[in-house]
Amino acid sequence: MRIDVLTLFPEMFESPLSHSILKRAKEAGVVDIVLTNIRDFSKDKHKKVDDRPYGGGPGMVMMCQPVFDCFEQVEKLSPDKSRVILLTPQGKPFTQKLAAELAGEKRLIFIAGHYEGFDERIRTGLNAEQISIGDYVLSGGELAAMVIIDAVVRLLPGALGDEGSAEDETFSEVANGGMEYPQYTRPETFQGMKVPDILLSGHHGEIEKWRRQQSLERTRQNRPDLLKNQ
Ligand code: ADE
Repeated sequence: MRIDVLTLFPEMFESPLSHSILKRAKEAGVVDIVLTNIRDFSKDKHKKVDDRPYGGGPGMVMMCQPVFDCFEQVEKLSPDKSRVILLTPQGKPFTQKLAAELAGEKRLIFIAGHYEGFDERIRTGLNAEQISIGDYVLSGGELAAMVIIDAVVRLLPGALGDEGSAEDETFSEVANGGMEYPQYTRPETFQGMKVPDILLSGHHGEIEKWRRQQSLERTRQNRPDLLKNQ
């Protein structure tokens, strides 16, 4: 998969992309992530990328020209058809289901904005879909892009190495209506806190049952909304 990110702050991506699974996936050739600075495309003599909103109101709006020119250049860098994603708090909610859908694409182009928002013609002119990572407002789209990239890349074949299939894990379970059960590892007792006897019993059927109950209980406590959708 090829991922392009159009951003005013490419440096923000350096650390997340150089650790753990994202690093490994890049090194293994599972994903190619290319960062391009929108500001480099500004034709303004002060490299301006935002301006005041027509009709008045607070804040600044990302201008069309630098984003369109940046997009035009980046799009040409690969022949694959791409899905274009604008990160905004007004977008459709990002979920595990959407992560799986995006993981099936050959190419994604993310546009991360700052300021109060994008000139609407960026969305319409570039045929971009808007995605939000949650009902809160971040100061820019970069962190949202990183969240989505992380969730998508770990689903790509070969990204997790020997660590097992992403399919088995918590969030697929969340997507299916349940949270993961509690996990323990050695030692059996830590600061007086014991691992539940059932997990040491060797009764696989009973362990399975206990885990299902725990998972259901957790979901009931933390995410009752997931159970309502069942
Ligand atoms: N930009 C600002 N807030 C955001 C959010 N919640 N999701 C995606 N992009 C954003």
